[in-house]
Amino acid sequence: MPLVCLADFQVHAQKHLSKTTWDFIEGAADEGFTRDENIAAFKKIHLRPRYLRDVSKVDTKTTIQGEEISAPICIAPTGFHCLAWPDGELSTARAAQEAGICYITSTYASCALEDIVTSAPRGLRWFQLYVQPDRLLNKQLIRKAESLGFKALVITVDAPTIGNRRHDFRNQLDLKMNLLLKEFQSLKERNSIPHLQRSSIDPSICWNDLSWFQGITHLPIILKGILTKEDAELAVKHNVHGIIVSNHGGRQLDEVPASIDALTEVVTAVKGKIEVYLDGGIRTGNDVLKALALGAKCIFLGRPILWGLAYKGEHGVQEVLNILKKEFHTAMTLSDK
Ligand code: FNR
Repeated sequence: MPLVCLADFQVHAQKHLSKTTWDFIEGAADEGFTRDENIAAFKKIHLRPRYLRDVSKVDTKTTIQGEEISAPICIAPTGFHCLAWPDGELSTARAAQEAGICYITSTYASCALEDIVTSAPRGLRWFQLYVQPDRLLNKQLIRKAESLGFKALVITVDAPTIGNRRHDFRNQLDLKMNLLLKEFQSLKERNSIPHLQRSSIDPSICWNDLSWFQGITHLPIILKGILTKEDAELAVKHNVHGIIVSNHGGRQLDEVPASIDALTEVVTAVKGKIEVYLDGGIRTGNDVLKALALGAKCIFLGRPILWGLAYKGEHGVQEVLNILKKEFHTAMTLSDK
């Protein structure tokens, strides 16, 4: 039977991935309230369609940070794609290039940045940074991303420490990840960023540190994980170029609002001065439409990309993106948005 919606890919992934990998991907912090709320909150928002307008031509193209994308549907940073498919991020990058959308590559990518770029040289990519305690390592990573043609630096701000992921504790995932990393060490690409996956995240990073990043890169800086108007105003004050409204898919602080519920507050606070994006709980074209109607310039997908990878690698991710694009096109046509 063909897979026809993103939920079908989720069912397939659960059946085919090991329990530990499934729990890692699907898992949330604490009781998983926010992860579930990310989905439920979309269903509480209703659409108000308008009719008898010419919708014979519908164009989903848009721009982010001045770069054109075929639809406002892009790929959020998620780590360890090799858990879902053998060549991991290489497949993801090729699918993103084929779809003409942006792929945010994680600090915890299981393939080396240069190999990801080589596998899809024409793709639009941003680099996500978990700020490392070692400033030099941050600098090296950012310079490397810059020289490889990544077009923006996404700094994740909602993870000064890792949330309480109960499933991962039960599965003793750290141990298993370490074993996995040993395997990565045998791959040639791992040598180019030694120690990265074993490194920690700097919990001392503050607003005032942003100027240091701005001093070492000319890339636009996007903050990922903002949920309040106070932080949105600070982001504008500190001259960042964009915000991703996100609660990390419910994997960090549980019981924060669903991202879609935090969006309006952030959009209002930035007063159009910078672009605002959203991730968390997007599963249908209607969800994309709702996020855009509430002020997001584009959305990013986390787990659904990993479900696509687990299905058929590059082609599975392509299918996920095509289905969502098609649903979004239909939603636009039916609602005249
Ligand atoms: C993530 N996320 C994440 N975020 C980030 O900034 N860097 C990372 O390396 C990761 N890694 C990661 C792994 C896995 C398995 C998941 C599920 C998520 C969070 C991700 O970027 C995004 O915020 C959420 O996944 C969006 O929610 P949905 O689309 O999964 O509901």
